[in-house]
Formats: sequence, structure tokens, C-alpha cells
Amino acid sequence: MCGIFGVTGDKDTTELLIHGLKRMEYRGYDSSGICLNNEELIRKRAVGPLSNLEPLVVDLPDSKCGIAHTRWATHGAPTVENAHPHVSSELDVAVVHNGIIENEVELRNFLKSDDKELEFESETDSELVAHLLSKELKKINSKIKNITEDQILSSWKNVIDKLEGSYALAAVISGREDSILFARKFAPLILSHDGKRGLLASDVSCVVGLSESVFYLEEGDWGIIKDLGVKIFNIDGDTVELKPKKLEWELGDAELGGYPTFMLKEIYEQPRVVRDCLRGRLSRDKIKGVKIPYHPRLLRIVGCGTAYNAGLLARYYIEQLSKIPVILDHAHEFRYGAPSGPKSLVVGISQSGETADTLAAIDAAQERGYPTLGIVNVESSTIARNVDHIIGIRAGPEIGVASTKAFTGQVLGGLLIAMKLGQDSKNFHREDLSYFDRHARMLPTSMERMLNDQNIKTKLWEAQQYFSGKNHAFFLGRNTSYPIALEGALKLKEISYIHAEGYAGGELKHGPLALVEEGTPIVVIASEGSSHKKLLGNAREVSSRGAKVIFITHQEDELADSHADLVIKVPRTHDLLQPLMYNIICQLLSLNIAEERGCNVDRPRNLAKSVTVE
Ligand code: G6P
Repeated sequence: MCGIFGVTGDKDTTELLIHGLKRMEYRGYDSSGICLNNEELIRKRAVGPLSNLEPLVVDLPDSKCGIAHTRWATHGAPTVENAHPHVSSELDVAVVHNGIIENEVELRNFLKSDDKELEFESETDSELVAHLLSKELKKINSKIKNITEDQILSSWKNVIDKLEGSYALAAVISGREDSILFARKFAPLILSHDGKRGLLASDVSCVVGLSESVFYLEEGDWGIIKDLGVKIFNIDGDTVELKPKKLEWELGDAELGGYPTFMLKEIYEQPRVVRDCLRGRLSRDKIKGVKIPYHPRLLRIVGCGTAYNAGLLARYYIEQLSKIPVILDHAHEFRYGAPSGPKSLVVGISQSGETADTLAAIDAAQERGYPTLGIVNVESSTIARNVDHIIGIRAGPEIGVASTKAFTGQVLGGLLIAMKLGQDSKNFHREDLSYFDRHARMLPTSMERMLNDQNIKTKLWEAQQYFSGKNHAFFLGRNTSYPIALEGALKLKEISYIHAEGYAGGELKHGPLALVEEGTPIVVIASEGSSHKKLLGNAREVSSRGAKVIFITHQEDELADSHADLVIKVPRTHDLLQPLMYNIICQLLSLNIAEERGCNVDRPRNLAKSVTVE
């Protein structure tokens, strides 16, 4: 979704701004723009990819300060007029904004009541902020150079105080060539400063490689960043002394490192994610470092997209190992449900830690008085900071919009909770953990073997042929392979635009079977125990109606061979870990199909990496 980047105190401002925008491309955007802060503000904007903006900025004069934005349309279509930065009528203020100003109508009327001639250039809520600041400044003095910094800051505070909703904001004022004003509320914004150069960004990936430490602003913080330093204030206007924190990621994490796409790179990083995520937490006799506020009577899990699917698998594990019931909700639906009973625990799962709906569900849980636990990747994110305890999944930056390695980490996070609660409730014994631990230690190697197995690569190529010219596909699973069926279908639709649905095998006869016809590709994902036989029956049912069945199972499964057109077998591991192996096969299958169809797997159309509006 929208991204903000700002620079002050560097001679290569334009270059840096474009560099920052490129780093945020993965989040999804439909237009972009920059504004250099010289004697006059110089603004350039373009619709479409950054390659449309780049030619417009090649001959811009030197500048030591500027702001930039990638926009993902919410208020108004993706047009040049709606692209940020937005300026005030007299071009004295330019603003970039992430989030939604909820009292837009009132503010528009307020501005109009004061100046009937005022014309709005765009349909956005963001433009209003530029007009509001300009108006505040003019109240002090019509000549900006006669306004003191303190007066600028109090004008900025007056503007922020009028805004309802969510925002990360950066604003520049013409003639104030080293200063950027900023504010954040329910939308991420970070700062960095090395004494000479200041950076401001909505996304950590912008500053990776440019700075080693950053200031993570708190909700309601605002202030000014200049070439010589930063002033930060809290919502009450008091000065805040934030300590810079070391960046959790390094330059290589945000780059392709020889892979053709981030998605492929991130799929191949999964063995490393398993190692990192379990490091220091899993041993033969104990789960360590996983803080759970109390032994709950009920768990509520919330998440969106892939995180929801990971939550579904976590639900099976927690119920199985601890016998504690779990209710799973799409984060955006959580608020409509009834409050949980006493001793509930709410677990939010989110890669980015910024998904607005998941954040809102966590807030709602806290308002209802429940303790909260986050399974997150970005440990400096808002969700990570808002929950009572976190389990960081340590996956490193995930740049591909379609989530891959984060799923593996999120499931492992859920498994750690399941095993911990299972141990506490004496349902998961020491020998169970020791057996699991043995397999978990071997899992990264098994994954590596699978990822490099030539036979599997050939099978994947054969499977891919079944999708040629097809517009619909199904993924079937049961028990712990049902979440993998949902995730497999999500991956395929996200990146290849083939309509795909994941179903629990038992649901087949209640509707989806009507859609099965000659040649319909159906991916069946093996499950454990008695449900496996039932799945084989489902494979028969669709096969006898002409479907092309691809069965994903493990090497010891001999039954699948006679139930499918194509069987892809992966190394055997612990039952609780096996779904992660199958999921990687689904990821690779989707990636191959999408690439064959010429799709951009890292940046699928219409989707954003981090959905920061509800
Ligand atoms: C977006 C992304 C998905 C992701 C979902 C939840 O839709 O495109 O890949 O699964 O958001 O994101 P989160 O950061 O909360 O895990």
C-alpha cells in the first residue's frame, strides 16, 4: 500500500528518493511522485510504474531535501491529480500521506467556509492537510521566511489536532529547505539521523543499507527532521527523547541476491526460517522463550490472507496438543462476534505487523480486557509493540507480495504455542517433544533436499501442464492439510490469476463437485491418519468426473499412486511438520504456472503487501 520516504541533508536527494520508492515498490502502488524542497517546491508525479516517474526527474536541480510517495488508490482513482505529493493552492506546502482522514467532509467544509474560491485539485483526503497547514502558516505571517520554527511547529500541531482517522504524514514548506514535518497515528513511520542526513520512511526496507539504526515513532508522535537533527514531540506536545534502535535487517535481505524473483528467493529461504524461528525455543524437553500470559480456557486467533491460513493450521495444532478450544476469525470479522468468555487469549498473526484489520482486532481484544499475543515477522511493527507478548518468526524481510516464507514461520509460531500449552496441560509429553525436536532439527535439510530434487522439479513441470489454458482449479485437503489447500489456492489465484478455491475434502459433494469437468486441475494434499483414506476417496470422486488429479504426499505413501494422474512425493517428516513441506510444493507450482503465464509474481495486480487501511 502507500509508501512514504523523505530525505534531508543529502546532495543526491532525487536519486535517494527514487531509490526509496523502488524499495517500496513491493508493497503495491498505482502512482508515485516526489517533491523537492528548494526556494520553490518542485513536484513530479506519474501514474503506473516508477519507470514512468523516472524520466520526469532526471533533470531536476540539486536539492538537499524532498519527500516522495507511492500511492495505492483509496480516495479517488489512480490519476496524476490524485497522486501525492499534494500541494496547497499557493504551492507553499506539499504533503504525502498514508492512511485515511475520516473527518474529510468536515475539513473540506471548514476550508471552504473560510475561502469560497478554494479549488481542490484532487479527490483525495490527503490534499486537505496541505491546505490546512498553509492556512495555519498564513495566520502567522504571509511571508514564510518570517515565521519561526516554533511557530511552524505549533501550526503543524494545530493541523494534526484537527485530523481524525489514521495517518503517517510528511510535509515540506517552500523556503524551509532543510526541514520535513512529520506525524504518525495508526500508520507506521520511522526516522533515522546520522548527524548530517535525516531520513523518514513508512517502511524499514527504504532505510536498509542507508542507516544502521532508526527511531520508531510511537502513536501520536510528531515533529520536525532537519539536516542537523530531529525534534520529536508526543501527542501532548511534550518533547520525546527516543533512543535509536539497531535495524533488525541488513542490506542483502532486501535484495534479490542472484534470484530472478523475490518470491523464488523467499521460497528457498524457508529452511533458514525454520532454523532461525526454532533457535533457542525448542529443545528435547522444553519450549523456551514463548511467553503466554496465562493458561487460557479459550484461544481466539485473528489474521488476514496467508496469516489467517496459518492461523487455521495453528488451530488444529493447539486443539490437538493442548485440548484448549480455539476460535479462528478473519481479523476484520472479529469485532462483529460476541465477546469471549473469561480467561480467553487473543492471538494476532501478521507478517508485517501493520495490517489495519489485525491491528483493530487486537485493539478490540484489549478493550474487552483480554491479554494478547502476536505472531509477527516485523518486530518493530505496531502490532508487535501493541500486544502483550510476541513470538517473532524471524523470517527476514518478505518482499514478494504473496506471502511464502512468513507462512512457514507463522505456523511454527503457532506450533510453539500449541506445544507449550500442551506441556502445561500435560497432554503433550516430554517424549512427544523429544520426538518432535528430532524431526524439527532435520526439517531444514529435508526442505533443502526437496527444493533441489530434480525428480520433484520434473513432476512440478508436468503438473504445471495440467493448468495450461485453464481458468479454474481446486485444492483439496482434510484435517491439517485443509489449511494448505486454502493457502495453495490463495497462492495460485494471487499470482497467476487463475480462479482457485481450497476446500475441505468433506465439502466436495456439497457444491464444488458440480464445477468439476473434463480436465479440471485438482491438487489434493495428503493428510495424516484416517483422514488420508477419505481424501483418496475424494480424489477418486473428482477423477471419475474427468478431473486431472495432482496428489502431493510423502515418500512413504504408496496408496496415492493409484488415485491420481500425477503424484508428487516429498521427504517424510513429523506429522506436525509435513504440511509445511506440502505447502512449499504448492508455492513452487503456483510460481511456475504464473511465470509461464507471464505474470509478475512479486507484484500481482491490485494487491498490496501490507494492507494498512481497513
Ligand atoms: C496482504 C498480503 C498477503 C498477506 C495479508 C496479511 O493481503 O498480500 O500476502 O497474507 O496481507 O498480511 P500480514 O502482514 O498481516 O501477514
